[in-house]
Amino acid sequence: MKALILSGGHGTRLRPLTYSQQKQLIPVANKPVLFYAIEDVIEAGIHDIGIIVGPSKEQVIETVKSVDWDAEIEFIYQGEPKGLAHAIKVASDYLGDDDFVMYLGDNILREGIVRHLEHFKEENFDASILLQEVPNPQQFGVAELSEDGRTIKRLIEKPKVPPSNLALVGVYFFKPIVHEAVRNIKPSWRDELEITDAIQWLIDHGYRVGWTKVTGWWKDTGKPEDILEANRLILDDIKTSIKVKTKARIHGRVVIEEGAQIDESTVIKGPVVIGRNVVIKNSYIGPYTSIGNNCVIENTEVEDSIILPDSEIRDAGRIVESLIGRGVKIVRGNSHPLGRKFVIGDNSRIIL
Ligand code: G1P
Repeated sequence: MKALILSGGHGTRLRPLTYSQQKQLIPVANKPVLFYAIEDVIEAGIHDIGIIVGPSKEQVIETVKSVDWDAEIEFIYQGEPKGLAHAIKVASDYLGDDDFVMYLGDNILREGIVRHLEHFKEENFDASILLQEVPNPQQFGVAELSEDGRTIKRLIEKPKVPPSNLALVGVYFFKPIVHEAVRNIKPSWRDELEITDAIQWLIDHGYRVGWTKVTGWWKDTGKPEDILEANRLILDDIKTSIKVKTKARIHGRVVIEEGAQIDESTVIKGPVVIGRNVVIKNSYIGPYTSIGNNCVIENTEVEDSIILPDSEIRDAGRIVESLIGRGVKIVRGNSHPLGRKFVIGDNSRIIL
């Protein structure tokens, strides 16, 4: 059994962060989204992991290699992202005749994949997918179940009129027959080889496609609000670990990494994670906030937000529900002309 984790794509819905950063590397609770997928796969006992990389491959390779994983990881270059089934095509030499799990690197699953993998093996399915009931099935691949409910009858990618509210989660199990399916499908209207079409090909040719239901939470972190929601969900489970001495007032579950300096007039209300060498003075860091390494925060309140490494925020009032990139500076100026002065990247959002 191998794993294929996808970490390519353009991440257009996460601009401007994705102009300089691959979307799967955006941190949730100070850990790249991609790492949650790698951890799930390793937890399921899979040792051989292929990671599909795209145009910003160096970044992904460097970030993944910064950790000593208990796995054999190879990187497979996709070039232009041409769909999820295209990723399988590109990886076909790597995957060979092995069964594999394909895991979209921007998905986070609370419960991991162990139970789902067991079901795929026990039932000896040719493919098996994960489904979850969602209120907005139009935004996902959607499944229609067979009469007895055990297998899949039909899959439709982002249907206008969904046949059910069962969305495809970004984790799929396959036997090698999927390579034949991928070779036989045509690009969709958006010029992509769709994984839903490949699975539908299997169903139409008499192969058995099973499914399991995701019972814990699942997040596709494609949009800023999804990243913030994933951050809240992950922070809900953290355990306190404070590696520095501080006289700050700390409530609830809080992680503070080495080298952080937090003064006594600061209040931290967990769940919160604070990275290495962060400096915080006279501030309030409120629930559901993740602050990346080397940030400086002074005279500011931050709540329900993610701040990426190396940012500096001083005298900024109250910041809520925000996703702030790397090396950002938000400060109060006192030179004339007064007023708000911006140097902001394309597609940024500022809500005053
Ligand atoms: C992809 C799949 C879709 C699935 C979703 C889960 O969509 O095409 O079937 O429901 O991932 O994250 P995308 O995120 O590429 O729009």
